[in-house]
Amino acid sequence: MAEKIILDVDTGHDDMVAIVMASGLEEIDLLGVVAVAGNQVLEKTLHNTLNVCQLIGESAPVFAGMDRPIIRERVVAGDIHGKSGLDGPTFPPLNKQAERGHGVNFIIDTVMGNPHEVTLVPTGPLSDIAMAIRLEPRLPKVVKQIVLMGGSLGAGNRTPYAEFNIFADGEAASIVFNSGAPIVMMGLDVTLQVLLDRERLDRYSRFSSKTATMFNASMKHYMAACRLHGAEYPAMHDPCCVAYVADPTIFTTEEHSIEVELKDEERYGKTIALPPTPNKPTLVGMGADTSLFWPLLERAFSNLP
Ligand code: RIB
Ligand code: CA
Repeated sequence: MAEKIILDVDTGHDDMVAIVMASGLEEIDLLGVVAVAGNQVLEKTLHNTLNVCQLIGESAPVFAGMDRPIIRERVVAGDIHGKSGLDGPTFPPLNKQAERGHGVNFIIDTVMGNPHEVTLVPTGPLSDIAMAIRLEPRLPKVVKQIVLMGGSLGAGNRTPYAEFNIFADGEAASIVFNSGAPIVMMGLDVTLQVLLDRERLDRYSRFSSKTATMFNASMKHYMAACRLHGAEYPAMHDPCCVAYVADPTIFTTEEHSIEVELKDEERYGKTIALPPTPNKPTLVGMGADTSLFWPLLERAFSNLP
């Protein structure tokens, strides 16, 4: 039975790879995609999400989510993902349109209408997930699980303390981690182990499908941008969430309760691991078997145009 998921993305480069894997893997039933402000402003992350879904032939509905964080001022990551939020590939004229209605309401209606069956996979700031929890307080007990990309038990990547998705909406992250929902946190501890190196990118550059061509053009930009910021190779942050849903055995995890620093300005957005408590169950990704990760992406390529 395929896992029913809703992706909540701030499409950027690695979000694009997460969409490709969710669309191309038989283990996943992609019910819908919600775009949120994060890597770029919502208008751009929504446009990028629609472009990616149209190019790969993904028919799942796409919704607009929150255009700003719950409380703090909006931040973006144009330095990595570029002015468009997905610099590199070119897309044909866009015909796919966003659905009417707010993405947060889509999340609530879908989760509550399919109790204990739907996994939420947020790969950007947690603004939409937090709003869904506030609007429908029963959601944490009805959602199957939340597999999120964000946080770090070690250093951050937006500040020395905070990973970008958490930094971009710390209050939303705190609501989610304290909600009681079963959470899997794919933070930098594990995502920085899944790197796209030059040899692999050169190999994928020989794939000629539309999806692979988009992937390669995107990754060439992403690799160059990461190098400008001191990283030798780009990490597959967001796709780790989809890979976990498809095959949890790829990853090792530790159980913790997670708190988010909100008061100390310097450490704002830091995810702090505390001893696990039954009402705040978070599995934190710690290890990845990359020999099992890449075949998932390659199978998704083979299933998409
Ligand atoms: O820190 C990595 C995260 O921030 C990824 O989700 C990337 O897309 C950016 O949103
Ligand atoms: Ca993202």
